[in-house]
Amino acid sequence: MKKRKNIITVAIDSPAAAGAGTQAKLISKKYNLFYLDTGKIYRYIGKLKLDNEKKFTYDLIKKKIGKINLNHLKKKSLLSNEVALSASKIAQDKNIRDIVHKFQQKCAYKPPKKYFGSVLDGRDIITVQVKNAMFKFYITASLEVRAKRRYKEYQKLKKKITYKEVLKSLRNRDKSDKNRKYGPLKKTKDSILINTTKLSKKACFKKIEAIMDKKLNF
Ligand code: C5P
Repeated sequence: MKKRKNIITVAIDSPAAAGAGTQAKLISKKYNLFYLDTGKIYRYIGKLKLDNEKKFTYDLIKKKIGKINLNHLKKKSLLSNEVALSASKIAQDKNIRDIVHKFQQKCAYKPPKKYFGSVLDGRDIITVQVKNAMFKFYITASLEVRAKRRYKEYQKLKKKITYKEVLKSLRNRDKSDKNRKYGPLKKTKDSILINTTKLSKKACFKKIEAIMDKKLNF
């Protein structure tokens, strides 16, 4: 794909519930960047699998991803723990990752013209999707803090799940996301580590914007 020149690209990798999505949204707002939460694409396919167990084929996925738009990714039904676990399973499949790749490339390098660039978050954004990103952040937090945050979100959504179940689910997803063969989550040497365990959203964003403002002469 022909890349548009001089656009701002921000790539963020992180384990689940580390606060990457919140930071990505703040970044997109301040710097007028197109935001793609890539986890939602895997969740969308994970849900497709749960709903079409018998008819779940690569052709079906290709067809659906070919027609995907951002409204599909905003659905509340994608937020459940069941869908997250299904997403983590289907995300191990190289063919599925390849199908998703093209869509992500378009969002990263050819965002709608009204934006100055893009910000993508996920597991393989720095390592695979936007290797030459202008800014690379690896956002993380302790497992317990992430589980507490996710548990609170589930409570707000009135999901029936205990803290222990959330903790177990995140631990399993971490294990699978970090150890899989294709596009595993790992921190690259050239990415900036931000640990949000003891940081508020605001404090975290201050760190990020200090780095970005400096380079962009904002
Ligand atoms: O970020 P989120 O928790 O919504 O992601 C759901 C799952 O999708 C992850 O556990 C991971 O297995 C998969 N994923 C991925 N690559 C990405 C984003 C998410 O494999 N870039």
